[in-house]
Amino acid sequence: MRNYIRIAAPATIANLVCGFDILGLALEEPMDIMELERTDDPGLVIRHTDEYALPLSPEENVAGAALLALLQELQEPIGLQLTTTKHIKPGSGLGSSAASAAGAVVAANRLLGNPFPTPDLIRFAMNGEKVACGVKHADNITPCILGGITLIRAIHPLDIVPLEAPPLHVSVVHPQIEVRTSDARQILRKEVSLKQAIRQWGNIAGLIAGFLQKDYRLISRSLEDVIIEPVRSILIPGFAEVKSRCLEAGALGGGISGSGPSVFMLHETQTQAESTAAIMRDVYNRIGIDHKTYVTRVNTDGVKELP
Ligand code: HSE
Repeated sequence: MRNYIRIAAPATIANLVCGFDILGLALEEPMDIMELERTDDPGLVIRHTDEYALPLSPEENVAGAALLALLQELQEPIGLQLTTTKHIKPGSGLGSSAASAAGAVVAANRLLGNPFPTPDLIRFAMNGEKVACGVKHADNITPCILGGITLIRAIHPLDIVPLEAPPLHVSVVHPQIEVRTSDARQILRKEVSLKQAIRQWGNIAGLIAGFLQKDYRLISRSLEDVIIEPVRSILIPGFAEVKSRCLEAGALGGGISGSGPSVFMLHETQTQAESTAAIMRDVYNRIGIDHKTYVTRVNTDGVKELP
């Protein structure tokens, strides 16, 4: 029987512009590192080695809530200690809570000899998202666990569809301001017009067809959000300028990463991704907001065991 496992859980971009709550992709960086050990005393102990001062009580901790859901269905009195080193800043819009929740349940499942299939792990991890923002959603968790790009057709019951796609290079800027997912959800309009809905579902269908047909032009045309972005972008200083300059510089398209404040762009080549990352830095240097940029790719592994 194994007593210890160490894993890396990737950052993710939820929504992919037009697919609010139903589309997401995993990134090669940043990644959280998590260690899970079996202990003699039944129960769950949470430790952090980073500076974020996240709650240590399992019920209030995103990874803890996900693990408690798993342990409840396991129905065996086992003891676990989870030690997390977060590199995905909470509140960044890069799936920080999903990495904690998904990483923890994948690690536990492997440590215990894989008693649960992936859909169960997604279900357990959604309890962590509920702690983080009050709502269960799987558009970060699913690509975090599986890697690649995923469609969540439904969460009740869970119906997930991994999507093939052509190679994509991603630039991301994380302006160091906090946008709470719960607030970014609260401000959304609860109703949309039929005209907006038709435009949006045309874009979602076009984006998925573009991925499957490896048609970069169709992907580019479909990266448009007429429902969420007009409301949420108000929370992100510099958003309009970053977006318009990156599109002019050759990005396929992009927008708010998850609930923000990070902004991402997709590209065919790494050179293009590097040039839009430079634009992102230029905009935030001028506005005077601290920021971090990444030039990365779609991660096809998902949560990965480390030696
Ligand atoms: N789909 C979610 C949202 C992702 O946009 O609120 C949050 O990480």
